[in-house]
Amino acid sequence: MVSFRSLALWRLILPLSILVLACPVWAAKVKLDPSHWGHPAGSACVSCHTKSSAGLTQQWQSGAHAEAGVNCMDCHQAERSDVDAIEHEGQTIATIVSPKDCGRCHVKEFTEQQGSVHAEAYAIIEDRVPALAHNIGGVPMQGASCDQCHGSRVKVRGDGTLDPATWPNSGIGRINPDGSKGSCSSCHGRHRFSKAQAREPSACVRCHSGPDSPDKEIFEASKHGMIYAAHRDEMNLDAAEWVAGRDYTAAPTCVTCHMGAAGKLPSTHDVGLRNVWSLNTPVSKRQLLVMFEDGHKLEIPADVPAPRRGTELTRVDGTVGVVKAVVPPERRRQAMSLVCVECHGKGFTDSFMSQFDSVVELYNAKFGEPARAIMDNLYREGLLTLTPFDEPIEFVYWELWHDEGARARHGVSMMSPNHAWWEGMYLVGRNFYARFLVAARALAGEQADALVDSVLSASEHHRWLDDPDQASAILGFMGGEAH
Ligand code: HEC
Ligand code: HEC
Ligand code: HEC
Ligand code: HEC
Ligand code: HEC
Ligand code: HEC
Ligand code: HEC
Ligand code: HEC
Repeated sequence: MVSFRSLALWRLILPLSILVLACPVWAAKVKLDPSHWGHPAGSACVSCHTKSSAGLTQQWQSGAHAEAGVNCMDCHQAERSDVDAIEHEGQTIATIVSPKDCGRCHVKEFTEQQGSVHAEAYAIIEDRVPALAHNIGGVPMQGASCDQCHGSRVKVRGDGTLDPATWPNSGIGRINPDGSKGSCSSCHGRHRFSKAQAREPSACVRCHSGPDSPDKEIFEASKHGMIYAAHRDEMNLDAAEWVAGRDYTAAPTCVTCHMGAAGKLPSTHDVGLRNVWSLNTPVSKRQLLVMFEDGHKLEIPADVPAPRRGTELTRVDGTVGVVKAVVPPERRRQAMSLVCVECHGKGFTDSFMSQFDSVVELYNAKFGEPARAIMDNLYREGLLTLTPFDEPIEFVYWELWHDEGARARHGVSMMSPNHAWWEGMYLVGRNFYARFLVAARALAGEQADALVDSVLSASEHHRWLDDPDQASAILGFMGGEAH
């Protein structure tokens, strides 16, 4: 996630400054005075839109904004100089109400969301879309798939209207015409903008489902999902405040663990704060959380020295930030565990975390690292081109870490034994032995021993293949071949 330019900088580094995640220092809660809303042109919008688009007006009417007197113009007003300003019924408005616009009144949520991994969701795919979406799909597929979850770079046409190739979507890292990132209506459906609705797992699962981030399926298959389904009526979802252990105890939802308040731990709109690992990478690494002077954040692997306060680093979107503090993985684990201990014992929680970490380490050592080493060998010897997704083995490898491998790791982190094993590690193993190694040996030809098998024999984990009879019987059954 970090550019190579900054790699060199990490090596200069010394101590960690530790930030207590339980103390929301960067999140002063600021609100506008009510005299700032109730725009006089708002009532004309409402009366006409009650006829022309009754549904959205009704949704606004049922939400907290109408109740507080925040009207259409308070959100949709624009300056003539805004690139996406349009003249509409005598007023200057913009169709997109960006996080920055919401942030005029909701400073805390805006600041946390802009600094989160969610805000980088478009930046991380911008250079990869052509390879995957365009080779297999085509331009229209990007708008209908990747962009709906990750967001697009919204383009404005000459007359201020939005280019249909890039809008509508409410992607979580969308680059808006005003430069702000994401869309608050990803989770808070418009025009009700309810917090109760966003506390439901359904606010997340539109994006967090499917082969590589099957969190919906995992949650439903876990004991937490089981208890949530049985006791949803005790979840107190409509409460003004929603602190686990105080306002509800029946079961956790996605929000409880990743965003919600628990005991003394404050709620946050930065979903990455409490996560230790990168789970959607070929090899998982524990992650440092770098916090910048300007409120932005960046995850970097914890196996390189932490950047020192004051260091400049290049971020995912290419901007440069000055390091303010670095949160080590242990701190992030501590924050997540504070959630668990509202309902479980500390010993139980620590033991669960140790089971989780061991499986991630096993995945790395047995499959993730060897598969990556073999791919590196094939690239180095020129047996593969550097272009992504133009050779069959690149798909096999990708499915190994990105689909089956991510499923196993997500499954174990969120307590679904089915995803950890049957839909996860079992399939990783089958792919590795029966597809990946076969394809790699075929490509390596006479160099197979040096480029492929030497990697395996360096690891304890593949000794069971040393007995040729056993190996050929098992691999024959799986569809691969013994060496
Ligand atoms: C006299 C009726 C009328 C009034 C007053 C009116 N609108 Fe509209 N508005 C419409 C109709 C009809 C459409 C759909 C057709 C179109 O896009 O022009 C629309 C479209 C819109 C759109 C979508 C534009 C797009 O990109 O497609 C927005 C946003 C909007 N109105 C907001 C407002 C706001 C804010 C106000 C108050 C300043 C307002 N409207 C006042 C009738 C009205
Ligand atoms: C709390 C802020 C807020 C208020 C109040 C608000 N809107 Fe919106 N509106 C939004 C957001 C956010 C979007 C989504 C734009 C995007 O990101 O694509 C939107 C989109 C729209 C759209 C285009 C999307 C569609 O579904 O057609 C229309 C039309 C619209 N609003 C009209 C209105 C009208 C009319 C009112 C008053 C009854 C109103 N809005 C009040 C925030 C607001
Ligand atoms: C259903 C929603 C959804 C769609 C559609 C989608 N993604 Fe993702 N993508 C996600 C989520 C959620 C993650 C985060 C997974 C995690 O970290 O747990 C992600 C992660 C990624 C990542 C980073 C980690 C990884 O797994 O490689 C890349 C790159 C990526 N997506 C590219 C794409 C591209 C390109 C497309 C379109 C071809 C696409 N995605 C379509 C939801 C989606
Ligand atoms: C990833 C999903 C998600 C996104 C994106 C999101 N929110 Fe939220 N938001 C939530 C959840 C969940 C809650 C309820 C949290 C709780 O009570 O624990 C919430 C609560 C809120 C609240 C109520 C806070 C309170 O203390 O009463 C406001 C205001 C808010 N969000 C504004 C925003 C704004 C502004 C944005 C965009 C900058 C945004 N949200 C983006 C999920 C989201
Ligand atoms: C002009 C000020 C203003 C703007 C702009 C604004 N809000 Fe609000 N918002 C309020 C007020 C006032 C309330 C009600 C009081 C409160 O909950 O603090 C509120 C409440 C909320 C809530 C809590 C709703 C609930 O169920 O209790 C959410 C979520 C929210 N806003 C999200 C947004 C989002 C997303 C945007 C941008 C699309 C936005 N707001 C734009 C002033 C604003
Ligand atoms: C509109 C799509 C969308 C919605 C809705 C959404 N997410 Fe995400 N989420 C993503 C994408 C895409 C990524 C990967 C972003 C990246 O790596 O930069 C992601 C990443 C994450 C991560 C990984 C953070 C890390 O440390 O790498 C967590 C945790 C997460 N989301 C939780 C949630 C929760 C909880 C909700 C619901 C309250 C939610 N998300 C709603 C698309 C979404
Ligand atoms: C009981 C608490 C809990 C619940 C409920 C929960 N998660 Fe998680 N989630 C975790 C833990 C713990 C991890 C692993 C964090 C780490 O890396 O240390 C995790 C990991 C993730 C990741 C991967 C982050 C990465 O590092 O790549 C995503 C995405 C995610 N969760 C989304 C969700 C969504 C969406 C839901 C609801 C459908 C959900 N979670 C429900 C605790 C929970
Ligand atoms: C709001 C309360 C709540 C929170 C918070 C919570 N859990 Fe749970 N958890 C439960 C309940 C209730 C059960 C089901 C109890 C049972 O029958 O075993 C459960 C079950 C489990 C189980 C399965 C136990 C078994 O014996 O099968 C594990 C593992 C677990 N939780 C881990 C965690 C972890 C780790 C966290 C924090 C990341 C967490 N939980 C957060 C309420 C919670």
